[in-house]
Amino acid sequence: MKRLFSGIKPTGDLHLGNYLGALKQWIALQEDYESIFCIVDYHSITSAYEPNKLNEYVLKCACNYLASGLDHVKSIISLQSRIPSHAELTWILNCITPKSWLERVPTFKEKAAKQEDNINLGLLDYPVLMTADIILYKAEAVPVGEDQLPHIELAREIVRRFNTTFGELFPEPKGIVGKIGRIKGLDGADKMGKSLNNCIFLNETKDEIWRKLSKAVTDPARIRKIDPGNPDVCNLFSLHKLMSHEDKIQEVREGCTTAGIGCLKCKRWLTDSIDKELEPIREKYFQYLQNPNYVGEILVEGSKKANLIAADTLEQVRDLIGFNYDFIK
Ligand code: AMP
Ligand code: TRP
Repeated sequence: MKRLFSGIKPTGDLHLGNYLGALKQWIALQEDYESIFCIVDYHSITSAYEPNKLNEYVLKCACNYLASGLDHVKSIISLQSRIPSHAELTWILNCITPKSWLERVPTFKEKAAKQEDNINLGLLDYPVLMTADIILYKAEAVPVGEDQLPHIELAREIVRRFNTTFGELFPEPKGIVGKIGRIKGLDGADKMGKSLNNCIFLNETKDEIWRKLSKAVTDPARIRKIDPGNPDVCNLFSLHKLMSHEDKIQEVREGCTTAGIGCLKCKRWLTDSIDKELEPIREKYFQYLQNPNYVGEILVEGSKKANLIAADTLEQVRDLIGFNYDFIK
């Protein structure tokens, strides 16, 4: 079976963008791949963070993974900082990665502009750590949102350089992006993101979802209910396409284009569809959250399993790069 690796940074509650862009794909793909789903805490410290919040964030991230349907028996659910090989391999890869490759990465440029007072080396090195994450497991499939594709492209370049320099060891990983690779936020402009105040979080109640959707931006040209709208430019219609039943999608298209329904009706229906999918996830999320020790054990067990694979790969790397000193037993 081919391997799959992906991860999410523990920086707070997960939102619909994470779910539709990443998690939902993971759940489906875990049937076909030997999967490792990691909570990437090393990545989360490349931007300002509060050390005393990480405990809560890692727990919540794990609860979201499990509640959404990741199966810790079938797949490995791990915590990056519990697997030393991630940091070790990063250092080795650093030494074959030109700095100029990293300076070109779009997310580095964006983040550096946002955190001018904290352009740390970790921020620049972020995609190398990500490469190490993936190739330690010789993973070939990496399901992510569209924003991560440049990182995976870079991972492929680093793999090619490693293989030609030291010998074929790693497969080139491929990014897998879902139907819509970039979910827009409720402002209809930026991508949905934790820091942008434009999210629906996975643990929000139906009332909270409705309150947010009722204010969300729709087709900007549709001013009055009697004006027909254009679903193809409406951000909420793209959410309907991902969350609603086929019949409902048709009903929305028909109603909107003929001015048969107003935006509020469309938003009510979308609230129903989102809540229908999130309700069981939310319920399980709170159950897991009340059992932190159980969730902790799953992470410890998963990290142990991951460690075995990762340490074995690192040993092969050490052999290839000349660290197998024959006078030291
Ligand atoms: P992050 O929260 O940045 O660690 O993202 C975790 C995963 O969710 C990555 O695979 C992202 O590409 C994906 N993701 C986050 N926000 C979005 C979004 N708005 N649309 C699609 N995918 C997203
Ligand atoms: N950089 C990814 C994000 O921000 C998270 C991540 C870290 C990741 N390592 C990874 C994703 C390896 C896929 C594979 O979302």
